[in-house]
Amino acid sequence: MTNWKIGVIGFGNIAQALIGGLLKVDAISSDQVYVCSAHYDKCCANAERMSVHPCRTAEEVIEQSDLVILAVKPYQMEKVCVPIQKLLKEKIVVTVASKWNFDRFDEVLVSGTHHISMIPNTPVAVAEGIVIIEEKNSLSEDELNQWKALLNQIALVEMVDSDHMSIADTISGCTPAFTAMYLEALGDAGVKHGLTRAMAYRLVAQMLKGTGSLYLEQGKHPGAMKDAVCSPNGTTIRGVEALEKNGFRAAAMEAINAAMNKK
Ligand SMILES: NC(=O)c1ccc[n+]([C@@H]2O[C@H](COP(=O)([O-])OP(=O)(O)OC[C@H]3O[C@@H](n4cnc5c(N)ncnc54)[C@H](OP(=O)(O)O)[C@@H]3O)[C@@H](O)[C@H]2O)c1
Repeated sequence: MTNWKIGVIGFGNIAQALIGGLLKVDAISSDQVYVCSAHYDKCCANAERMSVHPCRTAEEVIEQSDLVILAVKPYQMEKVCVPIQKLLKEKIVVTVASKWNFDRFDEVLVSGTHHISMIPNTPVAVAEGIVIIEEKNSLSEDELNQWKALLNQIALVEMVDSDHMSIADTISGCTPAFTAMYLEALGDAGVKHGLTRAMAYRLVAQMLKGTGSLYLEQGKHPGAMKDAVCSPNGTTIRGVEALEKNGFRAAAMEAINAAMNKK
């Protein structure tokens, strides 16, 4: 367990997922965490659920913390950071805001601030996440290693060059939504054929988890994983044909293209 006190400015969805995951695996204790949001009442309610310390201001969070996570919406980041620039200079600063890469953030912070940009996805909440970290950063080697060691307990951590942050973010950050749609669709099919909805969702969710784990552990080509389930003249290959006829793989790639085009 780290000795760092961790501050969060913007205790919304992703910050709660990140802190919730770290608490779940005992990588940190709730006593080490200080958080603030725009609305103090809401912050208190969320903080109480995790037994972390709610604070009234960003200044109070920074004062209590060694490492400060900035997790407000991208369009709010500059407005939130400018008044606290000088205080942040004394801390390790982590931003999780989309499109706030090192160079952009460096312009808003005081020169010499130790900072790093990263993008977690929501499964960090259950210690099954992904965290994409930008290679370009100004943390010391020891700070970076300590931070990565913490994150490794709840996520696959990948260091990515600045030019590929956007696609890595899309592949890991947008796809939980697409995958939830796949889960829902397969669940509907299960219900159509007589399963209860709860059981159908449970079966599909475990199948998704298991298929991912199989790939990560065995590293077989996805095509070989598909072939291993398709016997000659069998049932699965008919499903594969139906997916191909309906443009399944093209639809998945188009979804990524659509998300990238918006960026
Ligand atoms: N959600 C994801 O899957 C995801 C994944 C990776 C990265 N991100 C990034 O994470 C950031 C937050 O996204 P989110 O989905 O967690 O949004 P969110 O749930 O709306 O959280 C934003 C938080 O910022 C707080 N806030 C707003 N103005 C503030 C201020 N002046 N001082 C302190 N706190 C303030 C809000 O407080 P109130 O609730 O009181 O208004 C809220 O707690 C974004 O930059 C996004 O790009 C999100």
